[in-house]
Amino acid sequence: MLKTSTLAMCILALPLSAVAQDGGYDTAEQDYKVFEGTFGVTEGKRRNHTKGFCIVGEFAPVDAAILNYTNSPIFTQTSAVNGRVSHKGGSNTAPDDKFGDLGLAFELTTPDDDYHIINVNTEYFFPASNPADFIDVVRAKGLGGEAVKALAAERPELATYLHYHKKVRAKDLRPYEGTTFNSVNAFYLVNDAGERTAIRWSMVPSGEQGLVAEHNPNFFMDNMNANLATGPVSWDMVVAIANADDDPNNAAIRWEGDHKEITAARLTVTSTATEAEGNCDQVNYDPTVLSDGFEVSDDPILEARSQIYAHGVGVRLGEKE
Ligand code: HEM
Repeated sequence: MLKTSTLAMCILALPLSAVAQDGGYDTAEQDYKVFEGTFGVTEGKRRNHTKGFCIVGEFAPVDAAILNYTNSPIFTQTSAVNGRVSHKGGSNTAPDDKFGDLGLAFELTTPDDDYHIINVNTEYFFPASNPADFIDVVRAKGLGGEAVKALAAERPELATYLHYHKKVRAKDLRPYEGTTFNSVNAFYLVNDAGERTAIRWSMVPSGEQGLVAEHNPNFFMDNMNANLATGPVSWDMVVAIANADDDPNNAAIRWEGDHKEITAARLTVTSTATEAEGNCDQVNYDPTVLSDGFEVSDDPILEARSQIYAHGVGVRLGEKE
């Protein structure tokens, strides 16, 4: 058996092909293969967040205080929502009756046909501050727990991530609609005066929205439908304004301490559908597709996400032809 330090060297010695010579990030195709190596391939499906279903609904403004920071139309009018909830990882049969990280992605269409995409998950901060380091983490996962431990010994931000997400945070089973999702990456709000304000946000369940359906490995859609039958299923978009010492470009660092928070909007689900029957399967939930009044930060992970999601949608839709 390889010693921990040897394993770490093996991982670090693998080609770090993610960074192009000009320092840009242009190897989505190769990085996608790393996901396939670690998580496997279900043809015609996403290679991460593979299991999921579609949601439809609306997104409506709540607190007009957000308009001091942005002129985005998603905070002045009610938008239509075409979204998808998912389990992190590459299994198309990930169990619903076991705790795991989840995803929530949705496309907003305003009455004036402006588009805006929000793509969030249940992590509180990221295991790496740049795409190449994150691909090392995915690769290490494919090699097994010892490889991840070895990599964490070399990478303090991964060690901090694992400690918080595996040991500190609560791991009680919650359905999608009872779960808080976080932007992880920071973005900028831009107002009419052109002032930019760095933010992160969370989608926080607006009500109890707990476990109501009979538990089985595949009950989350039944659960959401049961909650829809008795009341609203909704999340509040709670925006955190950056403090002066927060770094908008490093998703591996949690924004600690008190922050000014604004409940800017509410996402309300009106119906669900399987991927086969709904309209989310073909959508590329690229988090850099933003309405006026938003800008991406310089966090390199955002650009990497944009590229790999674009590659992914091409691959999976091609497999269906
Ligand atoms: C460099 C960093 C990241 C990489 C390389 C990456 C990679 C991927 C890949 C390969 C997929 C599957 C795409 C497909 O097969 O079409 C995916 C889906 C997804 N990722 Fe990421 N990801 C990253 C960061 C994040 C972050 C920070 C979040 C959340 C804050 C996130 C949330 C999601 C969600 C929710 C999905 C599923 C979206 C859907 O339903 O279409 N990812 N990611």
